[in-house]
Amino acid sequence: MTVSSPVAKKRSDYQTPDFLISHVDMVFHLDVVKTRVITTSQITRNGQHDRPLVLDGESIKLVSVALNEDAIHDYSLNDEQLSIQTTESTFTLCVETEINPSENKTLEGLYFSAGAYCTQCEAEGFRKITYFLDRPDVLAKYDVTIFADKERYPHLLSNGNQIGKGQLDDGRHWVKWQDPFNKPSYLFALVAGDFDLLTDNFITQSGRNVLLELYVDKGALDKGHHAIASLKKAMAWDEEVFGLEYDLDIYMVVAVDFFNMGAMENKGLNVFNSKFVLADAQSATDDDFFNIEAVIGHEYFHNWTGNRVTCRDWFQLSLKEGLTVFRDQQFSADMSSPVFNRIKNVQIIREHQFAEDASAMAHPIRPEEVIEMNNFYTVTVYDKGAEVIRMMHTLLGVDGFRKGVDLYFERFDGQAVTCDDFVQAMQDATDIDLTHFRLWYSQSGTPKVTVTDTFEQSSGRYTLTFTQSTPPTADQAQKHALHIPFKFELLDQQGMSISDDSVPELEAKMIELTQAKHEITVSGLSEKPTPSLLLNFSAPVKVDYPYSHQQLSHIILHSSDEFSRWDASQSLYSRCIHSLATAPDSPDEELFDSMLVAVSGMFELADSNPALAAAMLSVPSFETLSQQVDEIQVEALYHAQRSIRNLIATSLSEKWLALYNKQITGPYQYDADDVDKRRLRNLSLSYLVQGDSPQASELLLAQFASADNMTDSLGVLKAAQYGPVDQFDHLMFQFEERWRHDPLVLDKWFALHANMERSDILARLPLLLSHEKFSLDNPNRVRSVLGSFAFYNVLGFHAIDGSGYQFLADYILKLNSVNPQVAARIITPLTQWQKFDPKRQELMRYQLARIADCKTLSKDLIEKVTKSLN
Ligand code: PHE
Ligand code: ZN
Repeated sequence: MTVSSPVAKKRSDYQTPDFLISHVDMVFHLDVVKTRVITTSQITRNGQHDRPLVLDGESIKLVSVALNEDAIHDYSLNDEQLSIQTTESTFTLCVETEINPSENKTLEGLYFSAGAYCTQCEAEGFRKITYFLDRPDVLAKYDVTIFADKERYPHLLSNGNQIGKGQLDDGRHWVKWQDPFNKPSYLFALVAGDFDLLTDNFITQSGRNVLLELYVDKGALDKGHHAIASLKKAMAWDEEVFGLEYDLDIYMVVAVDFFNMGAMENKGLNVFNSKFVLADAQSATDDDFFNIEAVIGHEYFHNWTGNRVTCRDWFQLSLKEGLTVFRDQQFSADMSSPVFNRIKNVQIIREHQFAEDASAMAHPIRPEEVIEMNNFYTVTVYDKGAEVIRMMHTLLGVDGFRKGVDLYFERFDGQAVTCDDFVQAMQDATDIDLTHFRLWYSQSGTPKVTVTDTFEQSSGRYTLTFTQSTPPTADQAQKHALHIPFKFELLDQQGMSISDDSVPELEAKMIELTQAKHEITVSGLSEKPTPSLLLNFSAPVKVDYPYSHQQLSHIILHSSDEFSRWDASQSLYSRCIHSLATAPDSPDEELFDSMLVAVSGMFELADSNPALAAAMLSVPSFETLSQQVDEIQVEALYHAQRSIRNLIATSLSEKWLALYNKQITGPYQYDADDVDKRRLRNLSLSYLVQGDSPQASELLLAQFASADNMTDSLGVLKAAQYGPVDQFDHLMFQFEERWRHDPLVLDKWFALHANMERSDILARLPLLLSHEKFSLDNPNRVRSVLGSFAFYNVLGFHAIDGSGYQFLADYILKLNSVNPQVAARIITPLTQWQKFDPKRQELMRYQLARIADCKTLSKDLIEKVTKSLN
């Protein structure tokens, strides 16, 4: 793990592999401390050259090497590579390695945790199993045989189909798997353990029967039904929307407690963080149910976008992730409320992706330079990547997009390709020129579209001017104008969308911005219209237009686009909050009053469109507000947001109480109507507590006692965070008593403690970390305490004495030697010092420098820390 001075790899340095591997035969003899792996590969030289065969390998012991069955010893070996000089152009290489899975806390390669063996190979984990050409453009067919003790590990799983099994006299058994599809090494998987098994089946559109198997911890079978049902929905959806059918006879999903990420799309054998599989009414929230469906969908959709067509190199990661996130977003939208889903997607961009662009880690969706690939599984590559795909969907239309995707598979099935290949297919299938559009792949940063307008009463001429610019980012100084599909409409005073067939942009409700400046003019208007801008968030940009609050209220009531109604509500709240933050002593009463009038109107939506109402009645998060200012004034902004919420809570307390009382649900069901009701109920509860309503305590206690589901129980605890600390502590104590046996529920409890606003937070965090259920080895626990604190405990983390930063840095240094990947993820808030005041910047940089001083720092942290200190 110690790397002296890691070197960055560059996208422009890509070279085709010197050798190709057509077939791999692997034999695993599993043992907790001494697993042996025998890998036999059929290798061919790629082209005319005499370069050696250079295989990747890391943290493993090389036992032997044989070339065409003859043992060889004249290879050269270092910490990262095994080089073999040979003149053969086609040969068989047999490599034997030895691994210690129980010592492996990085959860990459082969690891042993909670009594089971598991692998994680994306991005570069296969090299921790054997010496190999561990790069995604080397595609091979795999046969895998696993030997292990039968009693402890009755289930031995790998990719593809099971083609043999047997029993040995010494208590061991073996199973052999064969994957008929070519795949890169990162999609390899092996799991061995004792699980409960839930099975089902799915008949594909062409009539094939696919066996579905879900492997969960013993005793957790009842919590697997939602995941299986979600999988079947995803399979049907991909057939219907994209015409894509599953291609093996079996699809396996394994849920594990120790996992660095959400889940992994290994061919035919997905491995999931148990958080995205297990659910029942008592222990999982509506959000958990939602996320399970989304992540199950995401991994399933990868079978085509990622596995059948994969990435040529890791710089192309967005090829599979941006596209697959877009697909899972469309799936979720179709399964529930489109507007609610769109709002969720946009919140991620505004809270996290804009922050990444503003930080030292800024990068394009297709990065140019990488030291540690694990650092590039980012909101930029994933979520901005999905927005880029969505813009193509907008430009090409539903049918054009589908034609493009069809052509993409026709051309590239079975291959490892680039983002350019994808865009080219979209262009060729539709004849829509995407040359300029491609800049989205190489340019980083958040574009800003500034809109101004003029109206000439006498002639009725209205002119809208759009100007785009992208501020420089840490990685890139020069920016160019992008191709931006910018949706908009003009509302008249009645709230009707104005149309004029002499202005094609107005008819299309979209202008394609391609230059720094554009102008459109509409004539013959009797009054100045209100522009409703960036409908449905048609591009990942910031918009600046000098709205009056009357105009925002007008859009809230009348825009034809539900997303924009919500967006206008958020702008109105933001305006109130920023105005209070900058002038706390002279509140703009007129502005606040008009905001309250608008809010009280939103209650009327609660019956007809509860999902939209709930979203509109929620004020922007601190993270979103932070991205709207040049310098974050922590206390002022935080307290202003709090005051505006209190104002909404107290001024409308009767409405909140009425809304609360109206949300009546029967026994728990995860269905859209009930989800909406619970959302409105818990939102109301939270406002009632914030407004110090006389009924608040009673309602909290009553709901806590009667809740038959986790959404309502957790709703109580979240609301109680705004009430008296004693009451919160008391409820949390009861909750812990009831749930201490369930790690996934306990994570919610840890997170609530860690992001609680209280003056003694730094004294309490160590208590959480010494909780008997806390372990630095388990990423879910680490994220729930340290992640929640650093990302969401605004006043605690940004304490002006630097104690919050120091606390995080201390734990990052501990985690560095345990799980570098997770350490590098939770350091993110420290790397975003650029927008804070000079004093905090200095404190944050001081901690970064302390981390940088560590002599045994992982590559993951070196990359992020050095970038942040530059
Ligand atoms: N490829 C996984 C996904 O997006 C994410 C992942 C990356 C998981 C690296 C593990 C390791 O679905
Ligand atoms: Zn993915």
